[in-house]
Amino acid sequence: MNDYLNKLNETVNYIKGKVNFIPKTAIILGSGLGSLADDVTDAIVIPYKEIPNFPVSTVAGHKGELIFGKLEGKDVILMNGRFHYYEGYDLSMTTYPIRVFKLLGVENLLLTNAAGGLNESFDKGDLMIINDHLSFFAESVLRGPNIDEFGPRFPAMNDAYNKGLIEILKPIMSEVTGKCNIGTYAYMKGPTYETPAEIKALCLLGADAVGMSTVPEAVVATHCGIKVAGITCITNMSVGSKTEVASHEDVKETARKAEANFKEVVKRFIKAI
Ligand code: HPA
Repeated sequence: MNDYLNKLNETVNYIKGKVNFIPKTAIILGSGLGSLADDVTDAIVIPYKEIPNFPVSTVAGHKGELIFGKLEGKDVILMNGRFHYYEGYDLSMTTYPIRVFKLLGVENLLLTNAAGGLNESFDKGDLMIINDHLSFFAESVLRGPNIDEFGPRFPAMNDAYNKGLIEILKPIMSEVTGKCNIGTYAYMKGPTYETPAEIKALCLLGADAVGMSTVPEAVVATHCGIKVAGITCITNMSVGSKTEVASHEDVKETARKAEANFKEVVKRFIKAI
């Protein structure tokens, strides 16, 4: 445990030596949103591979950079490239950056991702505000000795997606996309896309979208008192007449098409908080 905390402190001290300001808000960029990094001004870019103890992304197309700078005049940290359980990391490493953010002094975390749509009122390319999640098919990211410095052994998850931040997001989503989808994100470990029986089960359980990221980050952030907001891009429909066989190429293509709206929502949100 001490070893883990020492590693975190080493990482934090390295980052503090690179930047002369600490933003209150961090954004994790999901599939297709990487180009938001180009809109950051006064950017200080720190490649993950240069940061002591930081994991390095293995997913093609994920850049692997922390970016400190300004978006819409607000100080932000962008994480361009995240760590997924299916890549083979130890679970505590997939969320290592969240604890780094906490120790740096971050207070708000915006999680973005791509996911399959399980709500028939959605369309491919839509955005959805996450207001809850399902994750009991996966091992908890907080399994193992609790780190009391970060939070309690049995943390409540009622407000894992902060209600105040959701209220800020709702009108922005309606203005930018003409629709305000909001719902439950089901977390699956991947890397397989879901079977038809899994889709059926997730729909019965009340899920609106399904993906392979975000929940471990949201849980660790909530555990340590960082406020979380989540936005999903529905890159493929997995129910109803719009169903297609999911493929990574299609996911990337739809995420690219939805990118302009996605970026606009994120920018207006950052401006508003
Ligand atoms: N399932 C899981 N993860 C995903 C999907 C999906 O259909 N689309 C994008 N990420």
